[in-house]
Amino acid sequence: AKVHHHTWDIEYQYKSLDCFRKLAVTINGEAPGPTIRATRGDTVVVTVRNNLGTENTGIHWHGIRQIGSPWADGTVGVTQCPILPGETFTYRFVVDRAGTYLYHAHYGMQRVAGLDGMIVVSEPDGVVEPFAYDQEHTVLLMDWWNTSVYEQAVGLASDPLVFVTEPQSLLINGRGRSNYCSPAAPLPTLFTAAPGKTYRLRIGSLTSLSSLSFQIEGHSMTVVEADGHYVKPFVVRTLFLYSGETYSVLLKADQDPSRNYWAASNVVGRKRQTPSGLAILSYAAGNDPPRAPPTEQQPVPPAWDDVAPRKEQSRAIVAHPDHAVPAPPAADRTLLLLNTQNRIDNHLRWAINGVSLRFPATPYLVSMKRGLRGAYEQRPPADAYDYRGYDISSPPTANGTVASAVYRLALGSVVDVVLQNAAMPNGKNETHPWHLHGHDFWVLGYGDGKFDPERDTGRFNLRDPVMKNTVPLYPMGWTAVRFVADNPGVWLFHCHIEAHVYMGMGVVFEEGVDRVARLPTSIMGCGRSRGLP
Ligand code: C2O
Ligand code: CU
Repeated sequence: AKVHHHTWDIEYQYKSLDCFRKLAVTINGEAPGPTIRATRGDTVVVTVRNNLGTENTGIHWHGIRQIGSPWADGTVGVTQCPILPGETFTYRFVVDRAGTYLYHAHYGMQRVAGLDGMIVVSEPDGVVEPFAYDQEHTVLLMDWWNTSVYEQAVGLASDPLVFVTEPQSLLINGRGRSNYCSPAAPLPTLFTAAPGKTYRLRIGSLTSLSSLSFQIEGHSMTVVEADGHYVKPFVVRTLFLYSGETYSVLLKADQDPSRNYWAASNVVGRKRQTPSGLAILSYAAGNDPPRAPPTEQQPVPPAWDDVAPRKEQSRAIVAHPDHAVPAPPAADRTLLLLNTQNRIDNHLRWAINGVSLRFPATPYLVSMKRGLRGAYEQRPPADAYDYRGYDISSPPTANGTVASAVYRLALGSVVDVVLQNAAMPNGKNETHPWHLHGHDFWVLGYGDGKFDPERDTGRFNLRDPVMKNTVPLYPMGWTAVRFVADNPGVWLFHCHIEAHVYMGMGVVFEEGVDRVARLPTSIMGCGRSRGLP
């Protein structure tokens, strides 16, 4: 196995990713950052130099479980202190499974400013995947604003709340078209296809707010991987992606090679006010120059408010028969987590079972491992909400609290989490992509309405559940996942919408923290971890 060393200078630079010039957080001058490539079993070492001047940072390796290295998860407030301006921090971790992963800032709402990219982990030579292709390309999808992180974050913390607007553009591989672009501005090439060849597209979404559709005009896509797990292949014309999800799709260049085709991303789930993200799939035979841009109509995006095809896709994602990891037959503990938007202390917040998460000044990993008991809320949050009495279709009545609480899980136990969506105070309801750090979970099922343990537990898919690390919670519905708490450390589980986690939409799990090896002092220095040996 190899060790891949990277040195990243993180700094603000003016960028015009969508024809509007604004500050972006760059990695060695690039926004989004470079793709990290490695082979399964390799070690990745990233030395991060924070040159942001007046802003902290921390980088999370999304989908990498950090087995044996929980301090390298990059989650500021959970696994490390922030990397201060002028400081250098080194992440070192093993990529133990092939697949498509992501990385991004995990400090405040910094991801909004563009500190993100993809991680591609290949199988070692000689290991065959359950599909074949000629070439591969990465496709990173983002949403983009002309406002700064601070305008967004201060707005969310204000009373009355100023919600982030709909994004001004959608980026494909870091380029997009806002209304500031002239219609004649050239479009980026997604990739150049040779007729008859098959391409693997590793597609990831790191939007801050939007759920997306992705289409390539005239072509269907065969989904073969999700979040680093091989799935039973299925064919789509439109792929839906939630923030934090990755997919590999196979695309055969089987259309008329005398012209080019649109690739388009569009907002779904929220009323669409953002122009499509656009790129060109270009055909060229042999050494011919790529064909001219397509002149025909762009592909028609799916109706933004039609949830049915999105749920259908979620249900179609099951484990590849030859690569399925069987789920344990039953859970040792079940958490029923109600997602509500509450008014707490004169602020609009998100709460889970009435608790809105605030990160403590001392990272949990340090305070728990070192027994600094006053550093976080000692009272554990409730395992379940009052699911018999609660009416999910009316706005929440009870008030919530803001706390830095933790669920402590028995090491090795099997945990079911059922996420329950409910009406917001404004009567609306949204899709929330939930992402778990440190683990993959089996996706046991999705349902409409209120989850009923007696009725619905028996209907879980234990036959061929896929493993993922990010899963949507649909409007007015529930999503059930199962994982084994076998990775000593402290792990965040949260909605992957930046505004939502910033408003408290997350919970923290601890398991086996006493088994964690000696913590590196580089993660310390803030709160009560100052001066710890
Ligand atoms: Cu990609 Cu905690 O997130
Ligand atoms: Cu959310």
